[in-house]
Amino acid sequence: MQTVEISANGDAVQVGEAIFPLIWLRHNCPSAFHPQTQERVLDLLDLPDVPELTHAAAAGGALELTWADGHGSRFQLDWLLAHAPGQRGLDPAAVPPVTWRADLGAAGVPRHQADAILESDDALLAWLRETKAYGLSIVDGMPQSAEAGVLIGRRISFLRETNFGTTFEVVSKPDPNNLAYTSEALPLHTDLPNQELPPGYQFLQCLANDAEGGGSIFADGFAAAEDLAVEAPEDYDVLARTPVPFRFHDREVDLRARRPILRLDHDGQLAEVTHSPHITDIFDMPADEMAAFYKVFRRWLVRLNDPAYKLTLRLAAGEMVVFDNRRVLHGRARFDPGTGFRHLHGFYVDRQDLDSRIRVMVRGGGEGREG
Ligand code: OGA
Ligand code: ZN
Repeated sequence: MQTVEISANGDAVQVGEAIFPLIWLRHNCPSAFHPQTQERVLDLLDLPDVPELTHAAAAGGALELTWADGHGSRFQLDWLLAHAPGQRGLDPAAVPPVTWRADLGAAGVPRHQADAILESDDALLAWLRETKAYGLSIVDGMPQSAEAGVLIGRRISFLRETNFGTTFEVVSKPDPNNLAYTSEALPLHTDLPNQELPPGYQFLQCLANDAEGGGSIFADGFAAAEDLAVEAPEDYDVLARTPVPFRFHDREVDLRARRPILRLDHDGQLAEVTHSPHITDIFDMPADEMAAFYKVFRRWLVRLNDPAYKLTLRLAAGEMVVFDNRRVLHGRARFDPGTGFRHLHGFYVDRQDLDSRIRVMVRGGGEGREG
């Protein structure tokens, strides 16, 4: 049984070690939520700054509170302790990254079967967790139709539409608006950093790869950044705090965004790595920072070129590669379209939607407000 005490100055309840401010308890009273939608319906301004409590006690695994205005609140103790202030609520989608380098090898890339993903929620969940941990996986056994990849994508969520369409065909085209649609080599890059929110997961389903050349290259941007943080922490800081402009424009659109090469989240953890030589726009840092930034940036480019990070593999028809486009860099060797056909069918699903699918599967389809 947890001890329950009202704090000496009367503005919090202490349950065991955890301290719950009274305003928080009243704001999160189960009655503050709509019984069906579980959305908060309480207007915070209907409460006083410090609601007055007349009684607090633990009974039957719950905390029971009586307020001065006559309202009563009942909290399950395990729910309360899971939400104790100062700690993050449990998130089933918080899969820690497993960083990798060239020595992972093509054989080490997580591999999952298309039919299992389509038929079994357990297989879907296992695939999503591993894809999130490594930022990279291959789905094998894909039927030879462009819809097959999309069916797998829709097992997760809806697709992310961009100016290149809901799906896009990576083939050598007569009037390309993008280097991907030529037979040129593509150096390592992340797609669409010129967008306000670059797409999360990228899917490239291989329908044909019969031309000479056209091998795929991947590198884990989180691994390179992890090494940079240890070997050159000042460079890491510069890349994390200097916004860089990116721009894509063609006949239809002119999309621009600024973002640091390494984007940290609110906890200072690395959240996103951006790398796109082709659509990096004109640098616009102040003149007195420009030369120093170039030096740091060039050292970063040298690091990304290090074979220690590069994983090469050759996609075969029937395989679909899936990677976190805001972490894992991808590229390809040039190919000779005269020697055979090469066709990848591509689309994106955002990170938030993959996370949502993991959470919904973990809660087993049950209803109710969660962590
Ligand atoms: C792309 C791309 C890689 C390839 O379409 O964004 O990088 O292997 N394609 O063609
Ligand atoms: Zn690309």
